[in-house]
Amino acid sequence: MNLGALILAAGKGTRMYSETPKVLQTLLGEPMLYYVHAALSGVGDLPFWTVIGHGADMVRAAFPEHEAYFIFQEQQLGTGHAVSIAMPVLEKNGIDGLLVVNGDTPLVSSDIICRFLTLMELNSTALGFISIMLEDPKAYGRVVRDNLGRVRGIVECKDFNAAEHGTASGEINTGIYYFSLKILQHLLPQLTNNNKSGEYYITDLVTLAVQEGHRVEAVNFGGEPCLLGVNTPLELSDAENCLRRKINRQWMERGVMLHMPEMITISPRAALEPGACVYGPSEILGKSKLHHGSCVESHCVVRNTDIGTGAIVHSFSHLEHAKIGEGCSVGPYARLRPESVMEKNARIGNFVEMKKAVLREGAKANHLSYLGDADIGAHSNIGAGTITCNYDGVSKHRTQIGERAFIGSNTALVAPVDVGPGALIGAGSVITKDVPEGMLALARAKQTMLPRRK
Ligand code: UD1
Ligand code: CA
Repeated sequence: MNLGALILAAGKGTRMYSETPKVLQTLLGEPMLYYVHAALSGVGDLPFWTVIGHGADMVRAAFPEHEAYFIFQEQQLGTGHAVSIAMPVLEKNGIDGLLVVNGDTPLVSSDIICRFLTLMELNSTALGFISIMLEDPKAYGRVVRDNLGRVRGIVECKDFNAAEHGTASGEINTGIYYFSLKILQHLLPQLTNNNKSGEYYITDLVTLAVQEGHRVEAVNFGGEPCLLGVNTPLELSDAENCLRRKINRQWMERGVMLHMPEMITISPRAALEPGACVYGPSEILGKSKLHHGSCVESHCVVRNTDIGTGAIVHSFSHLEHAKIGEGCSVGPYARLRPESVMEKNARIGNFVEMKKAVLREGAKANHLSYLGDADIGAHSNIGAGTITCNYDGVSKHRTQIGERAFIGSNTALVAPVDVGPGALIGAGSVITKDVPEGMLALARAKQTMLPRRK
């Protein structure tokens, strides 16, 4: 059997009331589609394609590594139509068994998919899908069975009426299906859009298959809330909370200390070593890494940042694409923009902003500074209010500061400029020329004192 998978992700997500395509709405900072991709990647040896349409360019840009596996559905005429658009690609790739997953099912796991596929394979099923039981079937497609318990079809909520379909049992369709390619080739041309939405429904394939006497299996996965489709802001939030609890619990089980875990967001791409500690509310996003003994205090946003052993990030700090070395101290109220590097034991205090800057070992900038496009030597001290003036209105320029330099408070370093090792700059200076090693530079008006007018 040559298995493949197809993710349906072309819809607009009308009920999100957002310009962002639904599959790019985020949970714990990662787009919904990331989770479906991760679940399928975890199955192993299962090639998968993604049907996109609404906001296709945005989706492509968010998943550049998947570029060769996007299939474009120009008009979103329904989930059945989305599958028929993909057929030529699937046939060309010799796929003969197809898993279909709705792109708005972010909590689906590799484990669930494996279990489902195993069942399909064992029973040589031609068409199967996963159902679950809900007390309130909401707007999901309802599974209709005959009095012997055999599946008759899936009826969309809009098209459901009790007189025709019987009372709803609470069994709903999760939007995860298995089809043999043969059955798709045979049934897809028979789909019509003769329903309340005027769409070609993938779910009608079930009814068609039953009518033709094919074996159709609804595999009931009980009450798994993780298989619910996400269509509204409330459902997105419920799914995100569910993921948050799961991920945070796993980190705590591995020895990570989380204070107020319900208020801590940790990306599924982040890594935390045992003995790392986070206080909520905080967000540890993207590919961040927290090493042993590091601590992030409350109200911090840490994105794609590596926080070294024993380093502490004090409250209200915002870190993005930064690298913080062992034993460093950051904040409170610090901002580290991309390519900020702090080497071992460096310190950044309140209201200090760094961007494309390196603070070498033991260097410190404790108060109110902007350090952009700069390299600051080991054990240097950057006084309060120091600004690297890196932008001349056209280009950016670098500031270089040697080891053990001392930059007096309220200094403006007009880049490009080079301050040598051990140099001292008097407070309030505007430095426009290089300062050689060990020199004292004063670049400010001399204080004059005149008698006061009476
Ligand atoms: C669908 C199912 C419903 C099931 C529910 C589970 C149909 C007709 N109904 O309903 O039985 O209970 O999922 O969550 O399938 N999409 C496309 N192209 C289109 C239309 C949709 O790719 O032309 C994608 C969407 O982006 C979405 C997925 O298909 O990821 C499902 O579509 P959606 O409109 O959300 O279907 P539901 O109404 O939720
Ligand atoms: Ca949906």
